[in-house]
Amino acid sequence: MQLIDPHGGRLIDRIATGDQARELEARAAGLPRLTLNAREIADIEMIMTGAMSPLEGFMGREDYESVGSRLRLARGLVWSIPVTLAASPAEAEAVAEGGEIALHAPDGAFLAVMTVESKYAPDKTKEAAAVLRTTDQAHPGVQYLKGCGDIYLGGPLQAVRKPAHPDFHNYRLDPKETRVLFKAKGWATVAAFQTRNPIHRAHEYLQKCALEMVDGLLVHPLMGATKADDTPGEVRMACYEALLAHYYPKDRVALSIFPAAMRYAGPAEAVWHAIVRKNYGCTHLIVGRDHAGVGSYYGTYDAQRIFDEFAPGELAITPLKFEHTFYCKRCGNMASIKTCPHGREEHLMLSGTKVREMLARGEALPVEFTRPEVAEVLMGRAKRG
Ligand code: ADX
Repeated sequence: MQLIDPHGGRLIDRIATGDQARELEARAAGLPRLTLNAREIADIEMIMTGAMSPLEGFMGREDYESVGSRLRLARGLVWSIPVTLAASPAEAEAVAEGGEIALHAPDGAFLAVMTVESKYAPDKTKEAAAVLRTTDQAHPGVQYLKGCGDIYLGGPLQAVRKPAHPDFHNYRLDPKETRVLFKAKGWATVAAFQTRNPIHRAHEYLQKCALEMVDGLLVHPLMGATKADDTPGEVRMACYEALLAHYYPKDRVALSIFPAAMRYAGPAEAVWHAIVRKNYGCTHLIVGRDHAGVGSYYGTYDAQRIFDEFAPGELAITPLKFEHTFYCKRCGNMASIKTCPHGREEHLMLSGTKVREMLARGEALPVEFTRPEVAEVLMGRAKRG
């Protein structure tokens, strides 16, 4: 059985082993060092494991500018999100172009050596306008850009280890491993589901519609840095486990963590989510309403429309586009305006934000919003504070 090709044709692997790893570790001791932030830690993990294929390191100026201006890497391949490493001017001063730098995790662990092929001062306002489609200081992505270093360092890297995670080791499959899993299960077509929320009935509906069409479903919750008011990862994992145990066919669904940080870049992030999920071996990505959005920066379906800008073969992974779904009291089930003839007064609109508000008020979550097993996890947590 042939799985979908990684982006650019080859799954990148930048993790050294054996003598090469020992040699890198020894060399790193004499190099200038840089400590990565939470987003960069997530990015470096995805670079070294091939989730970011064809990237072999953080982006140099050419790729960075090309992604901002034309949604492509310099070599022409579609790519929609800058993957950058920021340094302060003093940190950047310590390494010349062509030189090497040792990259460390915040806990001090040495992760990788990067050859700094490109050192450049980004135009962050231009980046925000191009990628986030806003320069509003209230947007979390704009805030991130304001807070990170003013010089970007780019170049290929060679890693010796992945960033350490304290939890969920059984759920951290790299692209190589999801590909082995899909092959073992005989899934030629796999739909990925991106989420940063507990799974509610609307999410479940999209997933089950997808399952009617494809061989398997990869529930792929994003577990890198998110906004402070998003539901914490450990609560979400408990919700996913409860839901999968009670409502999903075991042999057709896999749950694994997506290590990325949220950019809240709406359309640009949706395309990137698709490319990266292709690297994990998925053939489809579920894209519903306001995918990867925040506040009201993006139109409800902007993250779907952006896919029309590319020829089908360019992405190869197919977006499964869904209307805003709701629970219809008259139909007695989940629906959208594509399938339900009833008026708004019959519709219960579901959203993670709404659920958070109800939990904060101590209200029980109705079954039309959330499965009881999931509600129990969420309400238990709300009670404990
Ligand atoms: S996201 O930032 O990861 O996109 P979220 O976890 O809320 O946020 O959404 C996960 C996926 O479900 C996205 O594709 C989103 O568009 C979709 N989605 C969420 N709620 C709905 C809904 N009520 N109707 C249709 N699609 C939805």
